[in-house]
Amino acid sequence: MDNNHLWWRDGIIYQIYPRSFADSNGDGIGDLEGIISRLDYLKDLGIDAIWLSPIYPSPDVDFGYDVSNYLDIDPKFGNLETFDRLVKLAHERGIRIILDLVLNHTSDQHPWFIESRKSRDNPFRDYYLWRDPKPNGDPPNNWLSCFGGSGWELDPTTGQMYFHMFYKEQPDVNWRNPAVRQYMLDVFKFWLDRGVDGFRLDVFNAYYKSPNFEDNPMGPIRPSLMGLRAFDRMKHIYDIDQPEMIPLLQDIRKILNSYGETYSVGETFIGGADKAALYCGDDRLHATFNFEFLHCPWWAHAFYQSITRWEGILSDEAWPNYVLNNHDNPRSATRYARGEEDDRLKVAAALLLTLRGTPFMYYGEEIGMRDIPISRDQIKDPWGRRYWPFFKGRDGCRSPMQWNAMPNAGFSPEGVETWLPVHSNYPVRNVMTQEADPESLLNWYKRLIAARKAHPSLRTGAFIPLTDGKRFILAYLRQGKDETTMVVLNFSSRRQPLTLPGDQTGRKWEYLLSNKRSSMIPVEGRVIPLEPNEALILREVV
Ligand code: NOJ
Repeated sequence: MDNNHLWWRDGIIYQIYPRSFADSNGDGIGDLEGIISRLDYLKDLGIDAIWLSPIYPSPDVDFGYDVSNYLDIDPKFGNLETFDRLVKLAHERGIRIILDLVLNHTSDQHPWFIESRKSRDNPFRDYYLWRDPKPNGDPPNNWLSCFGGSGWELDPTTGQMYFHMFYKEQPDVNWRNPAVRQYMLDVFKFWLDRGVDGFRLDVFNAYYKSPNFEDNPMGPIRPSLMGLRAFDRMKHIYDIDQPEMIPLLQDIRKILNSYGETYSVGETFIGGADKAALYCGDDRLHATFNFEFLHCPWWAHAFYQSITRWEGILSDEAWPNYVLNNHDNPRSATRYARGEEDDRLKVAAALLLTLRGTPFMYYGEEIGMRDIPISRDQIKDPWGRRYWPFFKGRDGCRSPMQWNAMPNAGFSPEGVETWLPVHSNYPVRNVMTQEADPESLLNWYKRLIAARKAHPSLRTGAFIPLTDGKRFILAYLRQGKDETTMVVLNFSSRRQPLTLPGDQTGRKWEYLLSNKRSSMIPVEGRVIPLEPNEALILREVV
């Protein structure tokens, strides 16, 4: 990997859940015009790319992750003309656009599936995975749906069953059918031709299933969101991660390369850093998600372990990435912060933005949005209805962006019923209030992002840990060609001294940034005294 600036490696990618960002037409749902109206906010924040969760036509059983047309925009979000304008206006501000491609399954309202289910000899029959049930009516094998229950659904019209890894309204397509494969590759070209800069690939490693449809063996329980699902007691040998995936990724990469500086990031489905590492490199995806931070407890050592494992596994061709939030998990503010305090979130932000790897942010993270509490009758995510009250679904982290203290937090006009409730803390926790407060989380994010832009070592420098985090403090160097920075993060809410390792004696450091002080503290010998939850960044004086 060369040292020239690469937007996706050196920049910051900001995920927008379009339903929840900004509602321009007062229907309670965010839209593309709303995003356009906030591009200057994003530019000012300093992010380099927007990843849009799906914006294609969708019946919204899984809120956009059930696509009924890959080549258009859902009217609730706008149309292709609005989309082209969004791309143009974002590019004018130096912001790239990444689309979310959901190619493992379609909606059951996609014209392919409407045809496919009509008869066994329909020309689109083989676009999906149809099998006869067993003679006793049981499903053809024991594969399960990630959202609960069997993965097989009986279709009475033809008496066969189709496979769905997610909701039954999301039938999995048959990637072994050359017509499907070709069509999907053309989808990439369609959007690249419209000026898109990259893609996030939804559950890409589930595209291929074993052609023999063998039963999966049962195995030890995988730690998961709930630990309740039979899905987590199964070893997913035959329903994901088939060898055909690699040649497909190679073909996808060739298309992307032919369009210049583009990007692909795969959502690694089931499995951690080891699996993710397999699928990225110069001839496959640019990146694959490592979601470990989403599950790290507030313990410096847990983060240390995750970072060093990821650094150790990835090949030289691959580049790490870090994610504290996304649309499927409780927000970091809900996981880590106590009450409305943002101290820990400032430490987490400093970690995310100073590691060697692409930081992914999720809308509202920069103002510390908390999950909304959800009652049974407010649930929109069917997953939450199925497992209530043990698991309440994913609505909590998808609530409307809090722009200001006006009714509906400036997301929708006053009087409109927003698709999910706005968090009740919006009068105090919103963009406008935080913009005016120099000590706010939002301004801390901006300062960190500016420091990352100004200091090449914070982007591409080697990651050299100085502590293992067992004693509350995570400290590391970012060693670049021409500069070295030191990042010191106190995970504890008490004052803590950092004792630098002996081999660091004699190096001189100057102050760059801290959430707790505005100038350098005297470093006595090897000891740096830290304030509670302090994030301190220093630069070596040479
Ligand atoms: C992963 C996405 O992140 C999630 O939101 C979605 O429900 C499933 N894939 C199915 O597309």
